[in-house]
Amino acid sequence: MMEMKRNQFMQSAAVAGTMLAAMKARAIENAELSARKNPDQLNIALIGAGAQGRILTESCLRIPGIRFKAVCDIWEYSQKYTGNVIKKYGHDIKIYEDYKELIAAHKDELDAVVVASPDWMHAEHANACMEAGLHVYSEKEMSNSLAKAATMVQTSKATGQLLQIGHQRRSNPRYIHAIETLIHQEKLLGSVTTATAQWNRAKADDIGFPKKFEMDAATLDKYGYNSMQEFRNWRWYKKYGGGPIVDLGSHQIDLFEWVWENNPKSVIASGGTDFYDHREWYDNVMCIYEYDTPEGTARAFYETQTTTGRGGFSEAFRGTNGYIDIAEVPAQGNAAYREAHAPEWDAFAAKGLIKQKATPIKKASTKNVAVDVRVTAAAASWPLPVDMTKPAHQPHLENFFNAIRYGTELNCPGETGYETCVAVLAVNRAVATGQKIEFKKSDFHV
Ligand SMILES: NC(=O)c1ccc[n+]([C@@H]2O[C@H](COP(=O)([O-])OP(=O)(O)OC[C@H]3O[C@@H](n4cnc5c(N)ncnc54)[C@H](O)[C@@H]3O)[C@@H](O)[C@H]2O)c1
Repeated sequence: MMEMKRNQFMQSAAVAGTMLAAMKARAIENAELSARKNPDQLNIALIGAGAQGRILTESCLRIPGIRFKAVCDIWEYSQKYTGNVIKKYGHDIKIYEDYKELIAAHKDELDAVVVASPDWMHAEHANACMEAGLHVYSEKEMSNSLAKAATMVQTSKATGQLLQIGHQRRSNPRYIHAIETLIHQEKLLGSVTTATAQWNRAKADDIGFPKKFEMDAATLDKYGYNSMQEFRNWRWYKKYGGGPIVDLGSHQIDLFEWVWENNPKSVIASGGTDFYDHREWYDNVMCIYEYDTPEGTARAFYETQTTTGRGGFSEAFRGTNGYIDIAEVPAQGNAAYREAHAPEWDAFAAKGLIKQKATPIKKASTKNVAVDVRVTAAAASWPLPVDMTKPAHQPHLENFFNAIRYGTELNCPGETGYETCVAVLAVNRAVATGQKIEFKKSDFHV
């Protein structure tokens, strides 16, 4: 019995060793192939040419040396919608309905593929590209299935191809300044004790489609969609997406991990399908994460709801000395606020790390206020000094292309995207079970 186990072990170890060697060989082969290509010009393709595919395309078109060679989308409307823009910029592209045909025809001339298909297809698309020796920029959420997200990290490791996940705030100079310089390096806020973030949207009807571009049932079925309604509104259905908490929340929940440089230790959540009876995913969710920090437990509250846009989308990181309000759109958050008890911040302003305070601290007033309400002085606002002068996704794409060209580090490699994916997908489970989810460190690693 013992011997059999030993034999089995030896056999599986041998198989694993052979697989590892084959994977390593392929990784070296792929790296050599990449090096042979001209780094000044990177040839790319796009898979998934819908709303976000078009936005990423527009950013790619602004980056020197990026040439589109092919576009894949199963829907003629999207092929034209995004394909025509690329052609207008003089790129000679071929259009495909089937990504396998695109890869087969172009893999030798391509360096990278941008994947902006719905979440449930990211793993299939990204893995096939990496296996063909191509680097991949894949939109968030990595997947609506953790198992599929894990395969993306595994494929990236096995093939040696780069995998960047589309949490674009990670390359946004305003966020880098706020989190890495002000919070981590300068400890402007003291220690960060809590964070809040929200993404709230007004009630909206289902996304429609022009009648003449309706796909027939056989084509929808071939690509796994049950109806045009589900195909267009995939975010709301369990088969294809994760609902608003995953779609919107993943960007901001990712920031909690960045700020605390740690994965959460637990999450509790409440949510429901309260307003849209034909949609599967929760249309409103509130959740609280706990993080271990050197100073003790920190907590982050996240809210997404879809009846009123009150509050819009932004994040706040709150510490012992003040807080930072920030948002991808600066008008919704772009300043640090110093509490009156905190050490002076003038030295930070003198170094240009924050702008001189814009709002003088007002004297506390209790006039016309009920006696049991204490009004404290408003924290003074110190605007952040860094501007983002490019479209929101451009620096993240540049970071990806620079990693291919010069070997610089990715700001959101598959491993980091996976950690966020674990934290985000757990919210839907916490809502469904009504249970607090406690994470193990090992949960965050493939
Ligand atoms: N980073 C961001 O700020 C951001 C913003 C919006 C969307 N996204 C992400 O981008 C991705 C796409 O979202 P969207 O808003 O563009 O959705 P969308 O529905 O507008 O576009 C998806 C496109 O993929 C195509 N598609 C579907 N299945 C396909 C398949 N099997 N092969 C090829 N093409 C296929 C569809 O025809 C459609 O054109 C999602 O993962 C989403 O989460 C990211």
